[in-house]
Amino acid sequence: MAKQIILPDVVCKVEKSGNRYNAYSTDGTKYTSDITTGCRKNAYEGDYLIGRFPSTSPRYEFAWRRITDKVLNQLENSSSINTPNTSDSVSVDVPTDHAEVLNFIHSSYSLKPKGLMMTELKWKYLIRSAVRGKNIMMTGPAGCGKTMAAKSVVNSLDRPDFYFNLGATQDPRSTLIGNTHFEKEKGTFFSKSLFVEAIQTPNSVILLDELSRAHPDAWNILMTVLDYGQRYLRLDEADGSDTIKVAEGVTFVATANIGNEYTSTRVMDKALMDRFTIVEMDVLSEDDETTLLNYMFPHVDSSVLSSVSKIASLTRTESNSETARITSGISTRTTVELCGLLYDGFSLEESAEVSIYPQYDSTGGVDSERTFVKQIVQKFCDDGSTDDLFNEDEMAEAEGDAS
Ligand SMILES: Nc1ncnc2c1ncn2[C@@H]1O[C@H](COP(=O)(O)OP(=O)(O)OP(=O)(O)O)[C@@H](O)[C@H]1O
Ligand SMILES: [Mg+2]
Repeated sequence: MAKQIILPDVVCKVEKSGNRYNAYSTDGTKYTSDITTGCRKNAYEGDYLIGRFPSTSPRYEFAWRRITDKVLNQLENSSSINTPNTSDSVSVDVPTDHAEVLNFIHSSYSLKPKGLMMTELKWKYLIRSAVRGKNIMMTGPAGCGKTMAAKSVVNSLDRPDFYFNLGATQDPRSTLIGNTHFEKEKGTFFSKSLFVEAIQTPNSVILLDELSRAHPDAWNILMTVLDYGQRYLRLDEADGSDTIKVAEGVTFVATANIGNEYTSTRVMDKALMDRFTIVEMDVLSEDDETTLLNYMFPHVDSSVLSSVSKIASLTRTESNSETARITSGISTRTTVELCGLLYDGFSLEESAEVSIYPQYDSTGGVDSERTFVKQIVQKFCDDGSTDDLFNEDEMAEAEGDAS
């Protein structure tokens, strides 16, 4: 008997928009956020379709893979699914009529990816700011979901999108403006940056990740670009030099680590901050953290997941208290990483040792931040057996024996 071919339930074609690769299914649904960047990029560059297949790993429900010719033939013969025809792919233009805009904003919570924890109000505020062409600044402590939320909002709006990580650029002028080159035949010439292309693309959404870590030169260059009254980029610092106008409908979404514990992050210029609408990302509550971890790690014992949320929550409360013995709480990024270790068979104690403790200073020995955090974790590592260090009955007994 011929081997049965497993067919995908969704088929996507990848298109390039701005500097990102977006995946659309047959009916125009955007699946970008469900598929890894690498997979989308390979599909685009290799010019093949990708499909959603049942996963062989218990961790994931689905796996996205290349659709081979064999599968494609089979699909074309079965009427259950059509391969996408992207020439008429649906793109949800943001409505302009006021009633429609209201409707779009207030029904937008369904666009939020399930794996992103964010309140409905904050999400809708974010969507509204984007739809209204505001410059958005996502703020909050490290690892609380700023980049994730910014990318999600960009994915939800079917508009050309561009991503720039300003925290990683050493040379803001070449990233934001371009480079001057010299070639024998051509002489000196100027090659514009991708950012110049981005701001000239009408209705594009431009992500400026880690703006707070950017070089002050980057802030200066962006000052006129972000100013609603100016909206231009000057190609040269010299007055009277060429400028490039920001196209109609361009939206900027920036992220910044702003909080008193971020002394290493440069303090952002007040004038630059004033050009943004601030959307503050909340640090997750213990319950929300537990919900997220259970959603992400359905195969990990949920009582251990609850312990992880509890540990994180205790450190966050402590770091915010007036008599704080630690400078920062455990972030959601860290709890997610830690649960990944639990899933891979490490114990809570081992996972904490490699993912949490290195973040805390060990100088000061028993009075150190690390010792403090270790003590919190230890409370949740004891399995209730007799070697419980802090078992009061035993302590009393031991004291009794000694006397
Ligand atoms: N609110 C959240 N909902 C879901 N996942 C979250 C949330 N916050 C953090 N995470 C998890 O933590 C990881 C890191 O989040 P993200 O990169 O968005 O943080 P960030 O706020 O941009 O951090 P940084 O300040 O270091 O740039 C995410 O990939 C996700 O797994
Ligand atoms: Mg980030």
